[in-house]
Amino acid sequence: MRVVAGSAKGRRLKSCPGRATRPTADRVKEAIFSILGSHVDLGGAVVLDLFAGSGALGIEALSRGARAAVFVEEGRAAQRALRENLVACGFDRRSRVLPLPVAAALRRLGREGERFDGVLLDPPYGQGLVAATLDRLRSAAVVAPGAWVVVEHHVDESPAPTGFAYLTRPHRYGKTGVTVLRASEELHDRAMQRIAVYPGSFDPITNGHLDIVRRTLNVFDQVIVAVAYNPHKDTALFSPAERVEMIRESLADVGDRIIADSFEGLLVHYCERVGASVVVRGLRAVSDFESEFQMAMMNRHLNARVETFFMMASETYFYTASRLVKEVAGLGGDVSGLVSEVVHGRLLAKLQQRKR
Ligand code: PNS
Repeated sequence: MRVVAGSAKGRRLKSCPGRATRPTADRVKEAIFSILGSHVDLGGAVVLDLFAGSGALGIEALSRGARAAVFVEEGRAAQRALRENLVACGFDRRSRVLPLPVAAALRRLGREGERFDGVLLDPPYGQGLVAATLDRLRSAAVVAPGAWVVVEHHVDESPAPTGFAYLTRPHRYGKTGVTVLRASEELHDRAMQRIAVYPGSFDPITNGHLDIVRRTLNVFDQVIVAVAYNPHKDTALFSPAERVEMIRESLADVGDRIIADSFEGLLVHYCERVGASVVVRGLRAVSDFESEFQMAMMNRHLNARVETFFMMASETYFYTASRLVKEVAGLGGDVSGLVSEVVHGRLLAKLQQRKR
């Protein structure tokens, strides 16, 4: 492990062998800071490195101009490596190490009135620590309005942020995902920032859906295309993860204003979690109206702060539906033109696989 850039560039860092947690791989670290660099200015920032380990992420931030850093790490061996790394890089005077569990450290920092411009969050995988720590960050009130939070997570544990909004979509590096969030007070303060959720089964996403997503971007600042699934009665052809991937790949040209995600449970609860006040639905023929009207009314009954926004499908896609696309493709009909190339390839492969 080495410092990648900045004043301590090239400095070799100690890791702590035998630790249960994994150190951030250099290529992931490089990716994190290149993503961050295109969205935020690290110069002068005060950062918080949680589950710091031997401190690679916080040290990289200091090397690239952060003014000060607080490192939270409860493991003894990791604390030793971290302190040695700080001294070796000449950053010990700009740093503070809290040898505490993250929950206790956040309570203490909250009591002390600390406010951070950025947070580096890299918890052990598979223990629900991403969601729990984001909750704690919020209740300890230690993030400044508009602060960024880099979350390094397992690709299956994408953060569904409460009180935060997506600054970037999740980026993938093998099994590791990197998502950057922004403390959403800033978004709420800026009256024009509107986040919409476009929910659906998307099994798979069709060109009709994609057309709605792209047009929706003319109206809202960020659109979260959210695959709804029910693990107990989902009869979909594609898994939720496959559906999310197809959405992401089909909209790869659009950038970070589109986020692809999945959720189970109630749509209005999901909207609350991601800070969205609008649900977008597409309307095709009159026959869609009845069930859409019912859903909109039910959602309003459940949460009157969430509005439903209907968008008429373009004439070209009036008859396009995922169910028909699957049926036609399954019977050997040509559906290219009704779905993106990515979806077309995956659909044919899936149907072939089903036949075997
Ligand atoms: O693409 P679809 O199948 O028409 O989408 C329907 C969807 C996913 C939007 C709807 O079933 C939904 O919102 N499901 C989440 C669970 C929920 O909130 N149910 C109550 C809705 S009134």
